[in-house]
Amino acid sequence: MSQKIYVFDTTLRDGEQVPGCQLTTDEKVMIAKQLEKLGVDIIEAGFPISSPGDFKSVVEVSKAVTEPTVCALSRAVKGDIEAAAEALKFAKRPRIHTGIGASDIHIKHKFNSTREQIIEQAIAAVKHAKKFVEDVEFYAEDSGRADLEFLAKLTDEVIKAGATVVNLPDTTGYVLPHEMFERISYIMNNVPNIDKAIISMHNHNDLGLATANTIAGIQAGARQVEVTINGIGERAGNTSLEEVAMILKVHKSLGLHTNIESTLLSPLSNLVSQTMRMPVQANKAIVGRNAFAHSSGIHQDGFLKHTENYEIINPQEVGVDKSSIVLTARSGRHALKHRLEMLGFKLEKPEIDDAYSRFLDLADRIKEVNDKDLVILMKETVSA
Ligand code: KIV
Ligand code: ZN
Repeated sequence: MSQKIYVFDTTLRDGEQVPGCQLTTDEKVMIAKQLEKLGVDIIEAGFPISSPGDFKSVVEVSKAVTEPTVCALSRAVKGDIEAAAEALKFAKRPRIHTGIGASDIHIKHKFNSTREQIIEQAIAAVKHAKKFVEDVEFYAEDSGRADLEFLAKLTDEVIKAGATVVNLPDTTGYVLPHEMFERISYIMNNVPNIDKAIISMHNHNDLGLATANTIAGIQAGARQVEVTINGIGERAGNTSLEEVAMILKVHKSLGLHTNIESTLLSPLSNLVSQTMRMPVQANKAIVGRNAFAHSSGIHQDGFLKHTENYEIINPQEVGVDKSSIVLTARSGRHALKHRLEMLGFKLEKPEIDDAYSRFLDLADRIKEVNDKDLVILMKETVSA
């Protein structure tokens, strides 16, 4: 039977901290409501200690949604945890997300600490958070570069202290997919009380591997994914929600599913992009402008014969009306004929040849030929 993967959306926290992407409380509430409709299981609404505005946003998001768990971030320090708890007081299902660095690089150069002290601080943080909420997620920052034996010990200790979820982030986007599989497998097999908590994947995209690593992690046993709409996030971004959701939908053989209503993916991508003033790259998987656009002659011909020749997803499944055929100088006769027929021009072979050579001249000059250009071109053809 297919197993559920919990979707933890951090667009409003890890995504929103990107320079230029800051949101007002009202904007955060608006996006949170759409995330609820999308079917995410957890919304990370902010980092309450970081600013009064972020504190307020967590309060208002907590009031605005009822289905998803609302989560607030904190460092492993009492003041942060208490601010998170206070901001979450209206949440129906509150979660505190607390944690500390786990790699030797972070332990030495960020915390000037030792592995033993880190474990003590982690246990104390989880126990403190448990005084306020039942659901406590612990993050072991920079897990991707942490010593595995130490990471297993830290995971075991925080679960003993009461963590319900243990997040093992690849904070720097360093790990390779096969290594992620091996690392999460190691954790699943070497933490005695692993059955008492969910392991979470939170991967950054510095080498373009965030989605691949997240899939590798869940194949090894992680059951929560931390993702953002459009993959927005620190530096090169976080794992993108739409990619993970559609990979699990397309590859049913993985035996994993999410609760995501995929037809809302494209509209929500547009909303987030517009609200954050952050354009989506045209060739972005699933939600990019070109994700369902066919432009080369060979592809257009194959697509027009049978859509599955060049599409593995029906665009309507992700909320896009239909695929498009973009007419450029790389397009073939078949695509031109098809578009002309849609515009009401039924041409026989010699006329098509003539129209096609005029079309190529035009396309070489103006790059992309739209319907208006075609109508003008056809009028010229008829009157010539
Ligand atoms: O990337 C990271 O490690 C984080 C943690 C704060 C969860 O965002
Ligand atoms: Zn992160």
